[in-house]
Amino acid sequence: MKLSTYNSGNIEEIKQLFTQTFSDSEGQSEGLLIGNLAYELMISTDSYDLYGFVAIESEQVIGSIIFSRLVFESEVNAFLLGPVAIHTSFQGKGIGQKLINFGLNTLKENEVELAFTYGDPDFYAKVGFSPLVEKVVKAPLKLTYPEGWLGQSLLNDEIEPITGHSYCVEALNKPEYW
Ligand SMILES: CC(C)(COP(=O)(O)OP(=O)(O)OC[C@H]1O[C@@H](n2cnc3c(N)ncnc32)[C@H](O)[C@@H]1OP(=O)(O)O)[C@@H](O)C(=O)NCCC(=O)NCCS
Repeated sequence: MKLSTYNSGNIEEIKQLFTQTFSDSEGQSEGLLIGNLAYELMISTDSYDLYGFVAIESEQVIGSIIFSRLVFESEVNAFLLGPVAIHTSFQGKGIGQKLINFGLNTLKENEVELAFTYGDPDFYAKVGFSPLVEKVVKAPLKLTYPEGWLGQSLLNDEIEPITGHSYCVEALNKPEYW
């Protein structure tokens, strides 16, 4: 298995991976929603505001993760992880954790200070994320599942409170994703 940054030749295959994986785990409409989200993130986001990574096995994309910029009123270099998918038949083999750690290390090398995500706290705790309350860091949109708001410092510090609002990229700026 090879881990790497995605390239424009992977976009359709990545969209397909998200659609299929989320259809398998949460039904077809969620599959279509997340497949479209991944596609919109890749085609509509400035490259400065996006990092995408893939896991490749036998020349097929079997996993993908996307980070997009989260802007605060104060100056902080922060990215939000999501969506994340490992193809159904490759789950539970450690690939998700390897791919996320690979992505986080690349962000660190590029001087990103903070990473956030919104998802299952037990899974994301395995790759360094801890629960956050919105008094410490505000999420960009209203959360339907506040327990899923998670973050980590890539500078090995605690996350200090950040005052003011946060703003996600346009593709994620829809209530249905939150
Ligand atoms: C969630 C997902 C990305 C994990 O990737 P993976 O390669 O299967 O995970 P890993 O093998 O690296 O890690 C497995 C560990 O995570 C846990 N885990 C896996 N999927 C999980 C899930 N959906 N919720 C909670 N924990 C999960 C397992 O319990 C396992 O822990 P263990 O090793 O202590 O038993 C993958 O299963 C997936 O794509 N699922 C469908 C889509 C999805 O739910 N995406 C994430 C949204 S938050």
